[in-house]
Amino acid sequence: MDRAATGPEGGITTETKERDMSSTSTSTAAAGTSIGPGTVHVIGATGKTGRRVVDRLERAGIPVEGRSRRSQPPFDWQDRSTWAPAIEGASALYLTYVPDLAVDGAPEDVADLVALARAAGVEHVVLLSGRGEANARRAELVVEASGLAWTVVRASWFMQNLSEGALLEGVLSGLVALPAGDVPEPFVDLEDVADVVVAALTDPALRGRVHEVTGPASLTFAQAVAEIAAVTGREVTYLAMDPEDFREAVAAQAGADYAQMLTDLCVEVFDGRNVHPVAGVQAALGRPPRSLEGFVRAEAAAGAWR
Ligand SMILES: NC(=O)c1ccc[n+]([C@@H]2O[C@H](COP(=O)([O-])OP(=O)(O)OC[C@H]3O[C@@H](n4cnc5c(N)ncnc54)[C@H](OP(=O)(O)O)[C@@H]3O)[C@@H](O)[C@H]2O)c1
Repeated sequence: MDRAATGPEGGITTETKERDMSSTSTSTAAAGTSIGPGTVHVIGATGKTGRRVVDRLERAGIPVEGRSRRSQPPFDWQDRSTWAPAIEGASALYLTYVPDLAVDGAPEDVADLVALARAAGVEHVVLLSGRGEANARRAELVVEASGLAWTVVRASWFMQNLSEGALLEGVLSGLVALPAGDVPEPFVDLEDVADVVVAALTDPALRGRVHEVTGPASLTFAQAVAEIAAVTGREVTYLAMDPEDFREAVAAQAGADYAQMLTDLCVEVFDGRNVHPVAGVQAALGRPPRSLEGFVRAEAAAGAWR
């Protein structure tokens, strides 16, 4: 999901930015043998994780087809008539659910797509999931019980929400506002998430498991934006919003249903359940995860907050 935040104007953005990914590499697990996964169809291929996964698969010479509402053929979670043509010929699927697995009906949609995929001859599905979310866990259980080979990549909050996702506008306006209190979050770098997804697609040893991926350390949102301020020289602060005020501000921009879902999600995941980092990146890739400090330096150098 684009986890939204409001700036002073209550604005919400889903803008994404291309970034230089030349310094990244396609990684496979430390243990296990890499195999060709056949043709991978990436659902949400132009999104924050999808395009990183497509890029890595292309560079590794693995056949990949990107799917989204704008692809040919298109894939739209809201239009089931698009599903079968979009997965035809796939051996493996990388699934991102938009706007978020937290929305009502998401596990059911995932169940129906996965059943269709199995009937169509898909062998393996990799699901992007969110950490500490009840509805996301329901979707994971669907994939685990699908009868297909499966892998779940369960991520903490993305660092890139601050540089290309829904928090970018808040950073640029000088105020990131969320109902997240002062709860620390072990933000994860999407370069690491994409590396783990590609490893999951190519290394059978990573299948049949939930890979919980976080960054190496937990920071509050105040600390995260302070890091951006220190590196860029921008004035940017964090406001811990009251959930009801947040819901009203988001509803004015994005509608009542989305606002309710996002507020409920924030209240759920920022209750302290997710504060501790875990070693999923190290376990899957044999190297440590990238730090928020390193992410901020790289994004600042690439011009993310100019
Ligand atoms: N943000 C976080 O911190 C975080 C943390 C953990 C997990 N997650 C999970 O990440 C997932 C979102 O992944 P992401 O951040 O990579 O996605 P994203 O950046 O929000 O990208 C959206 C992608 O989905 C496509 N899309 C939009 N609406 C669609 C629809 N109705 N049907 C099909 N495709 C659609 C978009 O392309 P088109 O416009 O061309 O359709 C684009 O390719 C969510 O399920 C969420 O639970 C997020």
